[in-house]
Amino acid sequence: MLLLLVCVFSLAVAAPADGPHAYDTIVIGLGSAGTTAATELARSGRKVLALEAQGRVGGRVHTVPFGDGFVELGAEWIHGNVSSRTYALATEHNIDTKVQSLMLDPYRSDGTKPDVALVRELVDLDFTEEHPDPPEPLGTFVTKKFMEYITKNKPDLLKDHDFITEYLEFWNLLTNNLESSNDWNDVTTWDVYEQLGGPQAISWHRHGYKTFFEIMLNNYNNGPGLQNLDIKLNTEVTRIITPQHPNETVTVQCKDGGSYTARHAIVTVSLGVLKATHTTLFSPPLPPEKQTAIDKVSIGVVGKVILSFEKAWWPKDVTLFAFIWKGDDKKKVPAEDYWTTRILGGHPPMGSSNSLTLWTSGEVAKQVERLPEDIVKTKCVALLQRFMGDSLKITVPAPTGFLRSTWYSNPYTRGSYTYDNLEAPRYPLARKWLSYPLLDSAGEPRVLFAGEATNERHFSTVHGASETGRREAERLLLMIRGEAGNHNVKDF
Ligand SMILES: Cc1cc2nc3c(=O)[nH]c(=O)nc-3n(C[C@H](O)[C@H](O)[C@H](O)COP(=O)(O)OP(=O)(O)OC[C@H]3O[C@@H](n4cnc5c(N)ncnc54)[C@H](O)[C@@H]3O)c2cc1C
Ligand SMILES: *[C@@H]1O[C@H](CO)[C@@H](O)[C@H](O)[C@H]1NC(C)=O
Ligand SMILES: *[C@@H]1O[C@H](CO)[C@@H](O)[C@H](O)[C@H]1NC(C)=O
Repeated sequence: MLLLLVCVFSLAVAAPADGPHAYDTIVIGLGSAGTTAATELARSGRKVLALEAQGRVGGRVHTVPFGDGFVELGAEWIHGNVSSRTYALATEHNIDTKVQSLMLDPYRSDGTKPDVALVRELVDLDFTEEHPDPPEPLGTFVTKKFMEYITKNKPDLLKDHDFITEYLEFWNLLTNNLESSNDWNDVTTWDVYEQLGGPQAISWHRHGYKTFFEIMLNNYNNGPGLQNLDIKLNTEVTRIITPQHPNETVTVQCKDGGSYTARHAIVTVSLGVLKATHTTLFSPPLPPEKQTAIDKVSIGVVGKVILSFEKAWWPKDVTLFAFIWKGDDKKKVPAEDYWTTRILGGHPPMGSSNSLTLWTSGEVAKQVERLPEDIVKTKCVALLQRFMGDSLKITVPAPTGFLRSTWYSNPYTRGSYTYDNLEAPRYPLARKWLSYPLLDSAGEPRVLFAGEATNERHFSTVHGASETGRREAERLLLMIRGEAGNHNVKDF
């Protein structure tokens, strides 16, 4: 009798480690990084639990049915096709991606067309190959180089102060929409970002960027999913306890009271989420370098306003239409509408033929998330009328649908993507610090970190985030294979 009790007791104790719910790894967040890590581990035979705070997979990739097809509220394009994980998965599954032309199509606030060839020539100027030492604010540097260029090549333009001011303001806005910054002087010329080769705007069009996730999760074409991967949506992680002792597991606690343990956890939440929650999310507190990195690296905001119409009213060949304000027109805009002067312009999204996507950035992007919907809609239609309608001599019809992104107000992203601010040159290791795992007392990595911000060369992208997910999955797989080797040595 006593013996039986002891057996039952020890069985109960052993259950969490050997039972059906024992996980090798818990992945926190199912964006590009987390989905890559979770699926690579599961495909390698590891038991994985993925906890995702939102009710969907994808994170900053969010494909939405809209207009007569699909549009993207988050990432829009695959940036480059050479050594791109996203592009490779698409082609392996015979998905035809399409290169989108983002040739600049400028319009002015008085309904006139600027000298298109000139604007295109100027927008193609690329000073990013030069790296002043010491690094400078990007806007200061570009302005200086731009003035040198026109002094040498377009001296007549020097007299047109209005044009120069308008054009530089536009360039500032364009920079912010690429960098996710609020002002181009918040960005440094110290440039470690590496672009992948090939076209920079490759679209999933009607397939939607969501297909990338369906492929990884083996759900594409009604695939059966992955046996070793359990996914819990609507499950916000509130605490991650890193053990010191090699015998203990990592504990992950959730807002709904759930608590899970595993040998390893991979954290993939955005830098914005880390900034807001790291002091309560991690026990014990994060090491000083990681806290410094979380503090010093910047995440900014890029946002979208997407409108659908009965049918397309714009010319078929519209590419990246850009709103260039004349100084006098800008002065007449009432203060409460200032944000309308900081909308870059936009493009027809390739997944929907009757929709237009407008882009915002920085503080204005945050404001556009908060403003009443009818105001954003009305003023954006007025912008389209002012810049394009008047120039094309058409009346922009009332939109049939409206969507906007909320990447900043969303508590599970708190920003769009990271950029290198003026402090970046002083903290050249910051992204590496973000990527360092937390170790137990035996030096084994237990809580690992992935995500866009932790990629030293390919940050701010979907492919870059995916690379970091693979990096951490590989870190674990190599370690486990190493351990298995040791056991074999012992066994024989
Ligand atoms: C408007 C916009 C346009 C962009 N355009 C492009 C583009 O054209 N091309 C490109 O390559 N990249 C683009 N990007 C960047 C790209 O989307 C991101 O770099 C990438 O998707 C980030 O992936 P991630 O896995 O690092 O983070 P995320 O996608 O943010 O994934 C993290 C996940 O963690 C979850 N999470 C957060 N907190 C918790 C918690 N406490 N518990 C559980 N789960 C949690 C989140 O819900 C999220 O799903 C764009 C981004 C935006 C916002
Ligand atoms: C990348 O795209 C270019 C242009 O469309 C094409 O010529 C090239 O073959 C592509 N490369 C790969 C690796 O698919
Ligand atoms: C750790 O595990 C080993 C082997 O299973 C055991 O001998 C040791 O007593 C454990 N230590 C603690 C503190 O649990």
